[in-house]
Amino acid sequence: MSTATHALPDLAVRTAGLTKHYGSRAVVDSIDLELPRGVISGFVGPNGAGKTTTLRMLLGLIRPSAGTGEVFGHSIAHPAEYLSRVGSLIEAPAFYPTISGRRNLEILASLGRHNMRRVDTLLGQVGLGDRGGDRFKSYSLGMKQRLGIAAALLPEPDLLVLDEPTNGLDPAGIREVRALLRELADDGLTVVVSSHLLGEIQTICDHLVVIDDGKLRFQGSIDGLLGAQTAEVIAIPEHTGDLQRLAELCTHAGHVGRIEGAAVHAPAPAEWAPELNRLAMGRGITLAALSVNRGTLEDAFFAMTANDDHAILAHPQESEVAA
Ligand SMILES: Nc1ncnc2c1ncn2[C@@H]1O[C@H](COP(=O)(O)OP(=O)(O)OP(=O)(O)O)[C@@H](O)[C@H]1O
Ligand SMILES: [Mg+2]
Repeated sequence: MSTATHALPDLAVRTAGLTKHYGSRAVVDSIDLELPRGVISGFVGPNGAGKTTTLRMLLGLIRPSAGTGEVFGHSIAHPAEYLSRVGSLIEAPAFYPTISGRRNLEILASLGRHNMRRVDTLLGQVGLGDRGGDRFKSYSLGMKQRLGIAAALLPEPDLLVLDEPTNGLDPAGIREVRALLRELADDGLTVVVSSHLLGEIQTICDHLVVIDDGKLRFQGSIDGLLGAQTAEVIAIPEHTGDLQRLAELCTHAGHVGRIEGAAVHAPAPAEWAPELNRLAMGRGITLAALSVNRGTLEDAFFAMTANDDHAILAHPQESEVAA
């Protein structure tokens, strides 16, 4: 029986109300995801945000407490129907330290009944072509991580899910992993990658998902993230005597105006600036300058994830294995 449903053809992953409770706490809280195909989606959020838990539910490693999800149109309640198309690296990969990277991949290929001839291709693809014969334990962290990605690519997946692949890497290692993911996505692979640091993946993600405290704070393009939160329209009236009226005009329009020096600042999307210009003109206020401060990506990210209830809470460790 097929469980394929009617996901839009351009979505690799879709969830509705996806939730995971541990005890009474929702560590993933009713998340509606839409991850496009053929691009890199980045899951970003602070430690404990719920990134790994979400990815584990998508891979059928744990069962949701509520909600639904689909990968390539198949319900995550039946992971066997899509897992052959998915490669993943969720925990640090376990490789034998005293044998070579190539031999490690050969063993995994044979265990998983994957095409053995892919091993050398993959070693080349992840930039380990000339080091494949060296012992795993002699590899740098970046090389180990790239070997892990090669292992995840063994089944020739359509979707690659990597949990914190840049964790612990130095800037050069991070660049290597980023370049590799970019190449893979350019070849048509759908990539989902998580990080607790926006800066580590923002430059390669086509689609960004911000999770904090189990909740979806944002999903969309990087530009969308910039526009979504911190934009501020700044207007300078020709006559300082108009400052107060201009600030009130903003507030009445739903964008609380505050006076700073000779300018009025109003948190509002950039698109609102022409409207403010019209409103001011309508009241006989001439603007000497009108500008938009979009803020930085970090501002937007912190505005979404700033959360002072990240108190030290002890959570009982429950382990669970999906049937
Ligand atoms: N098996 C479990 N039993 C109880 N609580 C759990 C379990 N797994 C995860 N949690 C809790 O769920 C929350 C989310 O954890 P998760 O690992 O998904 O976060 P994360 O975003 O991946 O964080 P990190 O950046 O540290 O990897 C955390 O508070 C964690 O302690
Ligand atoms: Mg995690």
